[in-house]
Amino acid sequence: MKKVLVTRKLLRSCEDKASKLFNSHFNSNDELYSQKKLIELSKGYDGILSSLTDKIDKNTIEKLPETIKIISNFAVGFGNIDIEAAKKRGIAVTNTPDVLTDATAEIAILLILGACRRANEGINWVKKENWKWSSDFLIGKQLTGSRLGILGMGRIGRAVAKIAKSFGMEIHYRNRSRLSPEIENGAKYHESIKSLFSVSDVLSICCPATKETKDIINKETLEYFPTGAIITNVARGDMIDDDAMVQALINRKIYAIGLDVYKGEPKINPEYLKQPTAFILPHLGSATKKTRTAMADLAIDNIDEFFRSGTCKNKVN
Ligand code: GLV
Repeated sequence: MKKVLVTRKLLRSCEDKASKLFNSHFNSNDELYSQKKLIELSKGYDGILSSLTDKIDKNTIEKLPETIKIISNFAVGFGNIDIEAAKKRGIAVTNTPDVLTDATAEIAILLILGACRRANEGINWVKKENWKWSSDFLIGKQLTGSRLGILGMGRIGRAVAKIAKSFGMEIHYRNRSRLSPEIENGAKYHESIKSLFSVSDVLSICCPATKETKDIINKETLEYFPTGAIITNVARGDMIDDDAMVQALINRKIYAIGLDVYKGEPKINPEYLKQPTAFILPHLGSATKKTRTAMADLAIDNIDEFFRSGTCKNKVN
């Protein structure tokens, strides 16, 4: 039986499944392993089932034992792993696409609604118990008829588009390549981010974190948006220059933001907490029982497939 180090606690049924297939080491206290501890613990193991909280950088990869042949990331994103360094060492890296698309799109829509309809301010008022209804109390922005820009029209972006369309939003997008008319389904493609941002009453960031997308929302690009736009992010915090974003909220260039992901999370830029117009969640995109079970099962299946066939359809490097 292959030996697999599972870095974070999984749902019970998933750990049961892993136990049947591998000689597995589980993390019952759900401790966050340091890079040093991860390297130490992987001695004698054939594979690692990692999570997005494990920073498996070049230095860590170079120190992993020779026996490690696969890192199966329990996430669709894999920015936490240096996939090129892994490739050089002959370590396959896999991810869990598809299974979290709908759950993440739901959170993307929650962020859009929460930011547009001033949910954070509303919750704060309810807690104070002294709110007074009036015809202009907490007036927000309605989705019907507004333009939604989607940055990254992959699986999640397309799922967001589908739901947003049913709210009566007009869909615009920017993607590395234009989609076929059938998949576009009426969404308008933009050749540049400037063109996309300039028509985005609301933006939903759904693209992967790459060198090209790092800080794509910055002081300069924030100027491209219509004044009073709303920006939401369900992908990765890397895409946003937080200082520029906070400033844009303060000077009302940006009306509100909805964020589920942050640079350096769980430590987030403290300024976000001070902004009443920031509707913020703690990285809940895939957090449903159905989805987390499917993700862990797929991460396990990826390892199984890899050891049986020497490769895996969800290999990313
Ligand atoms: C969640 O953020 C994921 O990448 O799966």
